[in-house]
Amino acid sequence: MKSKNILKRLFIGLAAVLVLIQLIPVNRTNPPVTAEINAPAEVMHVFQRSCYDCHSNETNWRWYSYVAPVSWLTAYDVKEGREHLNFSEWGGLEAKKQAKKTEEIWEEVSEGNMPMKIYVLAHPEVKLSEPEKEALRQWAMAAERGEEE
Ligand code: HEC
Repeated sequence: MKSKNILKRLFIGLAAVLVLIQLIPVNRTNPPVTAEINAPAEVMHVFQRSCYDCHSNETNWRWYSYVAPVSWLTAYDVKEGREHLNFSEWGGLEAKKQAKKTEEIWEEVSEGNMPMKIYVLAHPEVKLSEPEKEALRQWAMAAERGEEE
């Protein structure tokens, strides 16, 4: 009887916490696109489908990004992602910086670090196919050659 009461209180307490944390504001912004990256259509398609949610100012804030505590993780990944690489502001980077980021993009993709694993798990359609990876590789190599000229 007594332990049942404790369980009931615990459950109500937990439910209350879940409701209350929804009131904590989460920063879900989509600032203006100032200088979007320019790449061949196939490469753009991959970036837009698989990277833009975290690496652009055009994040598709899905339903779960409105439900705490998942919303906190989502907002954090987008904030961090944009800070490291923002395709919407790419044109504003110096050529040298663009070259460095291009190299990093291929590195992260070829090593399977990007897109983030948890994101691929939630959205299997964002996984890069072999031909898509090859297109990214070609794009990165071409950019590198251009750099050296
Ligand atoms: C779910 C969010 C998310 C997605 C989707 C995502 N990234 Fe990231 N990415 C991050 C976060 C967060 C970081 C910074 C922290 C880290 O390095 O893990 C990052 C870091 C990077 C970096 C390192 C940049 C630097 O300056 O160190 C590169 C390059 C990168 N991502 C490329 C990509 C590419 C290319 C795609 C798509 C194929 C992609 N990411 C998809 C969240 C994401």
